[in-house]
Amino acid sequence: MRNHLKIGPFTLPIPAIEAGLAGYSDMAMRVTARRRGCPYAVTEALLDRVIITGGRGREKGLVLSDDDHPVAGQLLGSEAEEMAAAAKILKEYGFDVVDLNFACPVKKVMGRCRGGYLLSDPQQAIAIMRRVRDAIGGPLTLKLRRGLDDSMQAAEQFEQIFDEAERLEFAAIAVHGRTVEQKYTGKADWDFLRRLKARKPNMTVLGSGDVFCAVDALRMYETTGVDGVWIARGAIGNPWIFAEFEALLNGQSLPPPPGIFAQRAALLEHFQLAVDIYGDELASRQMRKMGIKYSRLHPDGAAVWRDFIAVKSQSDWDRVLASYYASDGPGRPQTSISDAADIYNSCSSAGAAA
Ligand SMILES: Cc1cc2nc3c(=O)[nH]c(=O)nc-3n(C[C@H](O)[C@H](O)[C@H](O)COP(=O)(O)O)c2cc1C
Repeated sequence: MRNHLKIGPFTLPIPAIEAGLAGYSDMAMRVTARRRGCPYAVTEALLDRVIITGGRGREKGLVLSDDDHPVAGQLLGSEAEEMAAAAKILKEYGFDVVDLNFACPVKKVMGRCRGGYLLSDPQQAIAIMRRVRDAIGGPLTLKLRRGLDDSMQAAEQFEQIFDEAERLEFAAIAVHGRTVEQKYTGKADWDFLRRLKARKPNMTVLGSGDVFCAVDALRMYETTGVDGVWIARGAIGNPWIFAEFEALLNGQSLPPPPGIFAQRAALLEHFQLAVDIYGDELASRQMRKMGIKYSRLHPDGAAVWRDFIAVKSQSDWDRVLASYYASDGPGRPQTSISDAADIYNSCSSAGAAA
């Protein structure tokens, strides 16, 4: 039996959300997915100081559109006052929910006592949660990993933060089933998610880790008992994953993968939305990495991938579409991602958070 996923005042038709993904989950990616069945999305981690002081990239990170709701703005920071001030600004800009990131494993972020570092400093994490709660009320959500590392101390620290979020009436907690120390190595521990949800039945738990296709999403949902699935790498270049998950939830068989014309329509839409945020020139660069991910669904994926990599301008982009997407045909199913580490590395080296 499927329950609706509730996040604060929002009841979602399917128990899935599009993850925060640094360098990816901008308004363009979110809206392209929403038009294909994604019910809720999270921004990439936004640095509180950038939100407050108007640093580089601020406005692009804050772009929303009317069909981009409900949406959570995710914050990264180390000081309670700054996080609270940034949270207020997110609400003023129209974000429906504020999400606090205590999960990011990137060295630069950890070194500045942000993201996953806060899992090792529950006192500071709790001070931030309380101050943000006082500043905006809610709805608030939290992104955690299953601990800093595999030690007993890390398990206790996770518990303290989780329990305080429950006391403060956070609307949901997303948990990535890897430790911060693990970064992206090894497998996400779904059994941790299962045990967590069994111990904390009253908190809305979103499970994250190794959800690369709709079948993975269903498997996580059914085997762990989490309230919803946080779809991350599996949604990059595959906005259809939400509708596919819905079909499986309804007991239907997996729909055929999107055909080439459906892929082209999504690529064109995604590109146009990216132009709205970044302008023509920057949009081509942003879309190059998106195109690379979309190529996985193309029957001639390797060639499309190679040509998307070389895109430097809109005319290069148009050429790839004209070469590979001009006639219709069946798409290739997405089952797994072999270059997951590459996605992550290319993004974090560009200063992004995770
Ligand atoms: C390129 C990349 C960027 C990410 N950026 C964020 C981020 O900004 N905020 C966040 O909460 N998680 C971020 N994550 C973590 C994902 O949301 C997710 O928890 C993680 O990838 C595990 O899920 P998956 O194995 O299904 O991809 C990022 C992950 C990747 C690969």
